[in-house]
Amino acid sequence: MKSVVGKLLVLIASVSVILGTLPACTAEKESDDDDSDKSEQEISDEKSYYKIKHVDISPKIDVKMASSGKEIFETKCSACHKYDERYVGPPLGKVTKRRTPEYVMNMIMYTETMLDNDDTVKSLIQTFMLRMPNQNVTEQDARNVLEHLRDYAQKN
Ligand code: HEC
Repeated sequence: MKSVVGKLLVLIASVSVILGTLPACTAEKESDDDDSDKSEQEISDEKSYYKIKHVDISPKIDVKMASSGKEIFETKCSACHKYDERYVGPPLGKVTKRRTPEYVMNMIMYTETMLDNDDTVKSLIQTFMLRMPNQNVTEQDARNVLEHLRDYAQKN
């Protein structure tokens, strides 16, 4: 009889331990999840689909990069983009005044992703009735084109 009571006590004790820890575990897990949701949301506010997350730019134009970017612009972009008027695509002479460096870099390098995910670009597709093709530009070349467009926007 004694040992049965003993076993029962052990059982009750372990059940209460389990019951006591279970909610604590769940609560902890939930708050972990909350944290990860929050950080995901912070990134998605910065446009989660941007593959290039941050572009370093300095207020001073890098003349070498800009002149290399001008050549790339003339060979790979000017078939569709002019500086100051609408053509096959929107004018780009002042694009750096209306868009972020990250937007421009992603648009050049990850064109399809931007066309599929970015609301601004989606509405441009409606206007221009064409999906800009990826121009297969390296990151350095894309960065040079950005520098050229920044240079153009500052001077004009
Ligand atoms: C075959 C035509 C074509 C070529 C070549 C082209 N684009 Fe585009 N681009 C477009 C079109 C059309 C749009 C508007 C979005 C859409 O409809 O896809 C656009 C949009 C853009 C935008 C967004 C403009 C805005 O106002 O937000 C940028 C930036 C851009 N292009 C940069 C470039 C650069 C840089 C090159 C060269 C490396 C280039 N594009 C080559 C057709 C082209």
